[in-house]
Amino acid sequence: MTRTGLVSGFLFVAAAASAAEPAIQTPNIFDPSSTPAIGIAEFSHLVLGICAAIFVLVMGLIAVTVIRFRHRPGDDEREPPQVYGSNQLELAWTVVPIIIVFVLSLVTVRTILALQIDEQPPGWMPVTVVGHQWWWEFVYPEYGFTTANELHVPTGRAAFLSLRSADVVHSFWVPQLAGKTDLIPNRENHMWIEPQKPGLYVGQCAEYCGTQHANMLLRIYVHTPEEFERWAVAEARDAADGPAAQEDPAAKAGREIFLTTSCINCHAVRGTVANGRFGPDLTHMMSRATLGAGVAPNDAAHLKEWLLDPAHLKPGVLMPAMKLEEKAIDQVVAYLMTLE
Ligand code: CUA
Repeated sequence: MTRTGLVSGFLFVAAAASAAEPAIQTPNIFDPSSTPAIGIAEFSHLVLGICAAIFVLVMGLIAVTVIRFRHRPGDDEREPPQVYGSNQLELAWTVVPIIIVFVLSLVTVRTILALQIDEQPPGWMPVTVVGHQWWWEFVYPEYGFTTANELHVPTGRAAFLSLRSADVVHSFWVPQLAGKTDLIPNRENHMWIEPQKPGLYVGQCAEYCGTQHANMLLRIYVHTPEEFERWAVAEARDAADGPAAQEDPAAKAGREIFLTTSCINCHAVRGTVANGRFGPDLTHMMSRATLGAGVAPNDAAHLKEWLLDPAHLKPGVLMPAMKLEEKAIDQVVAYLMTLE
């Protein structure tokens, strides 16, 4: 595997967390922080508890039997009396498991019914999630913008996610927020999250989807409602591609290159002619902490490395090397750095 393997990928992500970034919550299914995940964890505790009790009981009885009735020197070697048929015993070990299975199925059905919601309830925030090889597209229909790889949601308001795929089957999984749900081509699945405390939660694609499946990482920023509103208003603006991009000659030249080459076939920068949909929306790309769905920190040095040859950072990536001269690449980087 390359130097951007799974482990180093996560380290990159961790290193990318600058001072302004909230600390990453270590993914842990036993430390849920959102309503569906809490329901699943409570259910798991119940099932694990019942199964553990059965395990201890059965193993304990086996251990007692093995030790107490083991072969000893001087034992009577004749076969012991054989007992056939005991209605009480037969009834007990038929009825008790039936009751256990019945209770477990009732709790399972109740949990599924509570967590599986296929119609958007009023007041919830809709977000469309589209899985791509190998990145995530997030569309906020209420706010009219699209972003990538980093999902922002508020506390105090559930987010209703509609999951689609642009190519193959992916799976959306942020362990602390909810269970996994697949993104399937030509189909729309739904899931929801209702995070309880602000922070940065990480997850990743949980269904093998090709070469860079392991580098299809997810970052979920949970904000207070005020913070979220600030973020959403900033994202909804067109690209800050006016004065900042015009004043700096390098950025201005880079803008020219970006808007007149095939970059715009795949990428959108709202407010310009760039409206490609195949790759991530770059309107506010510098508001994101990572590059390439989490393979590298999103800074000038890594952007340059990315533009020189994306496959160097992310082998198999569908973005081609643009074969620009180094000076032109520096200019495009200067332009992209203005997209805050
Ligand atoms: Cu997408 Cu695995």
